[in-house]
Amino acid sequence: MDGGSARTNTLVSARGVSKTYTAANRQPVLALSDVDLDVAQGEIVALIGPSGCGKSTLLRMIAGLDNDYDGELSWTRAPRPGKDIGFVFQEPALLPWRTVERNVSMGLEAQRDRSAEGKARVRNLLELVGLTEFARSFPKELSGGMRQRAAIARALAYDPQILLMDEPFGALDAITRDRLHDDLLRIWEQTHKTIVLVTHSVEEATYLADRVAVMSARPGRIKAVHQVPLDRDRTPEARRLPQFAEFSGMLRQELQ
Ligand SMILES: Nc1ncnc2c1ncn2[C@@H]1O[C@H](COP(=O)(O)OP(=O)(O)OP(=O)(O)O)[C@@H](O)[C@H]1O
Ligand SMILES: [Mg+2]
Repeated sequence: MDGGSARTNTLVSARGVSKTYTAANRQPVLALSDVDLDVAQGEIVALIGPSGCGKSTLLRMIAGLDNDYDGELSWTRAPRPGKDIGFVFQEPALLPWRTVERNVSMGLEAQRDRSAEGKARVRNLLELVGLTEFARSFPKELSGGMRQRAAIARALAYDPQILLMDEPFGALDAITRDRLHDDLLRIWEQTHKTIVLVTHSVEEATYLADRVAVMSARPGRIKAVHQVPLDRDRTPEARRLPQFAEFSGMLRQELQ
């Protein structure tokens, strides 16, 4: 399947995106080469590929954190700077001196939003990620999974149009990871956010995504984009379906 073909409801598309890093005193590194990808409104796209193939690079470009590239990234509805893009890093970058609640409300504070609506949004988000009881706790008092849930709530606080997640569950144990997968699916059901998720795990990509973009080793290219053959309503039983094993096996093979 062609990841670059026009889709209905496209939110953001990359066309011929290439990126060369030039580190001081070193050879230029072609990190991304001619990437075409469309992401539709409300869909979950997983980006999967070997280490160093440019997944984080591509995500940072979509986030507007790196504007130094060739090719084109275009939006159907241009994101408002600092508002429309939620970013979740691999390590939850929470501020240790702020409570969970005040980490989640950071962006609203930066925008001097002290409205009752803003406060209600923070409360709702804490409830959505199951951290209401821990609103007044500090990050060091939370488990790794809880910290990651707080980071997801923080990324959702501005009500962004797209959520970009860079291996958000990579550092977690398998049980916590599975639980967070279901949390993310529940959040998606309630918000229908567009999500681009970078992952190393074929099972994670299969369980969460509508489509999976497989990248090749450096220079990163999109090798193929596959529709996941599962219903959108996913429960843990989906992991035991034959098409789950078949699809993740196919992804694994394509990554080799
Ligand atoms: N700031 C930088 N300066 C120079 N080279 C860089 C820089 N950032 C990334 N690179 C190079 O670009 C390539 C892609 O890096 P990137 O971090 O996007 O890969 P990745 O797919 O996210 O890898 P991983 O799965 O290990 O996180 C790598 O070869 C890396 O060495
Ligand atoms: Mg990375």
